[in-house]
Amino acid sequence: MKPVHSIADYKGRIKRVLITEKEITEAIQKAGREIDKLYDGRPILLVSILKGAFVFMADLCRAVSVPCEIGFMCAKSYYEGTVSSGVVQITMDLDRDISDYHVVIVEDIIDTGRTLNDIVNLLKGRNPLSMHVVTLLDKPSRRIVDFKADLSLFTIPDHFVIGYGLDCGELYRNLPYIAEYEEG
Ligand code: IMP
Ligand code: MG
Repeated sequence: MKPVHSIADYKGRIKRVLITEKEITEAIQKAGREIDKLYDGRPILLVSILKGAFVFMADLCRAVSVPCEIGFMCAKSYYEGTVSSGVVQITMDLDRDISDYHVVIVEDIIDTGRTLNDIVNLLKGRNPLSMHVVTLLDKPSRRIVDFKADLSLFTIPDHFVIGYGLDCGELYRNLPYIAEYEEG
């Protein structure tokens, strides 16, 4: 974890707001309607990838009106500040068999694509009725593994971002907006 030397340092690293709270809310309402349309009354299982997607999951699940269950998985890919380790580790798995479910994976951000690629391959092997991927943010310029979400709310440039669930050294997840992180 990156040490926070002072509250001034903590705040100074919030460089600028990239996506406001209002923009996030509006995009999620729209995504909820798209999911409703896609599933047309069929029940779904929303699977959030922890920890980063926990805030997005909380808002997205309240924006859909189809019958909906929720599940969580924990995957770790960033170990040191903003540098990816390149290794995806499933540290907590789902608590149920998904073969009777229409699964919607809810992710915070697709960066290199490794995390979701691994998770999608793993879950497809468990034969769900169907599977879709929704991501709040997409950084296509950083892709290493070819991966495309079915629904992506915002495409962003190659900046390390924090807030709305996303962290740097476990901090800033509680910011209500998405901000660019000041490195160095
Ligand atoms: P990927 O496997 O490289 O696509 O990385 C996906 C995971 O890395 C995301 O679920 C995030 O937890 C984390 N991540 C990627 N980019 C950022 C970022 O800009 N800020 C915070 N976390 C990030
Ligand atoms: Mg994540």
